[in-house]
Amino acid sequence: MSFIKEIQRRRTFGIISHPDAGKTTLTEKLLLFGGAIQEAGAVKSNKIKKGATSDFMEIERQRGISVATSVLAFEYEGTKINILDTPGHKDFAEDTFRTLTAVDSVIVVIDVAKGVEEQTEKLVEVCRMRNIPIIVFINKLDREGKDAFDLLDEVEQKLGLKVVPLSFPIGMGYDFKGIYNIWEKNINLFSGDSRKNIEETIEISDLESSELNKIVGDKAAIALRENLELVDGIYPEFDKQAYLDGHQQPVFFGSALNNFGVRELLDCFVQIAPQPRPKQSEERLVNPDEDKFTGFVFKIHANMDPNHRDRLAFVKIVSGVFKRNTPYLHVRHGKKLKFSSPNAFFAEKKEIVDISYAGDIVGLHDTGNFKIGDTLTEGEVINYKGVPSFSPEHFRYINNADPLKSKQLFKGIDQLMDEGVAQLFTLELNGRKVIGTVGALQYEVIQYRLEHEYGAKCTYENLNVYKACWVDPKGSKTDEYKEFIRVKQRYLAMDKQNQLVFLADSAFSLQMTEQKYPSIKFHFTSEF
Ligand code: G4P
Repeated sequence: MSFIKEIQRRRTFGIISHPDAGKTTLTEKLLLFGGAIQEAGAVKSNKIKKGATSDFMEIERQRGISVATSVLAFEYEGTKINILDTPGHKDFAEDTFRTLTAVDSVIVVIDVAKGVEEQTEKLVEVCRMRNIPIIVFINKLDREGKDAFDLLDEVEQKLGLKVVPLSFPIGMGYDFKGIYNIWEKNINLFSGDSRKNIEETIEISDLESSELNKIVGDKAAIALRENLELVDGIYPEFDKQAYLDGHQQPVFFGSALNNFGVRELLDCFVQIAPQPRPKQSEERLVNPDEDKFTGFVFKIHANMDPNHRDRLAFVKIVSGVFKRNTPYLHVRHGKKLKFSSPNAFFAEKKEIVDISYAGDIVGLHDTGNFKIGDTLTEGEVINYKGVPSFSPEHFRYINNADPLKSKQLFKGIDQLMDEGVAQLFTLELNGRKVIGTVGALQYEVIQYRLEHEYGAKCTYENLNVYKACWVDPKGSKTDEYKEFIRVKQRYLAMDKQNQLVFLADSAFSLQMTEQKYPSIKFHFTSEF
């Protein structure tokens, strides 16, 4: 197969949801359809069990599972599908944001009873900012939930999406009879038997025919006709280009646990979901079908075995073909590196591969060369955009608890920050180091890993910071800017990229500062 065809048949996407909506279950059912696994229960949930957040075993378990499920690849009807795993736990949200820089589309899973939840809102917002094509899967139709139209309204309002239902439920919960597939114009009857792999599908060419009443009963048939008429009146026709541009989002209903509506979702997905998309670099737009390889690191995973300090850097191939044992330019270091054992991922296992194509993910063994956002090319200087840092939610001073091990401590902190576990800020005033995280759990992870992998000990001290704001002088450094630097010195720090950050201690003080220095702009992300 030509390399262009190889690239065109790839679909790389992420499944995002609030924890418990059914992401793991749906992933598993997709893998079952692809024949990548043989039985349910094979994909382990990487979520952190409630109430176990202080348990180191749980952290280790989480790390172990998350490398196993980082990329789940399988073949389905001639399409190579790469599912990128995204942690649902909010303490790992930043990990998910970064993974979203490597996907070409997403499926959002929503619980029919709970509707749009907090974590879904945040993740979808990031997708919308990047115009990532989104398909919505409303799950757990076998349970009583919200009215379908109310839910579609909620999705539009809370997530800011423009939905187009491509299937519609017939009843719900106890009365759930099945789904009318608007996309394929047929009815799937629900048997409620999760062991069955394929549900019964009945072709319905004419919705008005009495056949429909016989199949689902008079009441449900009448309701379905009315509902479909409403769908017709309220929602626009599905427009593939609008979906690909991020302006329209198709919606499917189903029950992942019962394997219901999943095949319809997958069949539609392989038809409409985008092949690898072009990516903007600081220098130019790079197309997947260019023959020269380029890619970027979006995730780094430390080895589970503390005796081996090597790590696995996950590289999304943006263009061309990645080959084993070929020297590639590490753009930030300006030096060439060769990789003798790149890993490709297949369902739950990883294997050494000779060749991978744009759209694929390769795992490269790394002894500390990479950090998140690094770019590899065949020689051209390209820096991919779009792996921003967001303002952390928690801030603590980190102190060295064992003065004999300060070298180890700094090395450990440095490498953990490169992996993206947390963010490091160095105060301008006194050089003290501050660790910023999305969730409190990361402090335990850092302390534990510093001790077990680097032999260093640390303690923390609380620091009252509301938000880290990246400072943008908007052009020339005026007298106003100089005054800001002088007056606010106590609150200024450098991030790891040496960008200036203002650590505002309250929403009020940020507001006052913004008013006092109108020519300076403050951003909640490092990319502006
Ligand atoms: P997550 O990855 O998004 O966090 O969710 P996960 O798939 O783990 O699903 C969360 C819970 O919802 C699980 O139950 C799962 O069995 C259930 N679930 C998923 N899809 C459906 C569905 O279509 N219908 C119904 N009724 N339940 C569904 P659990 O009891 O928390 O876990 P488990 O003991 O079943 O694994």
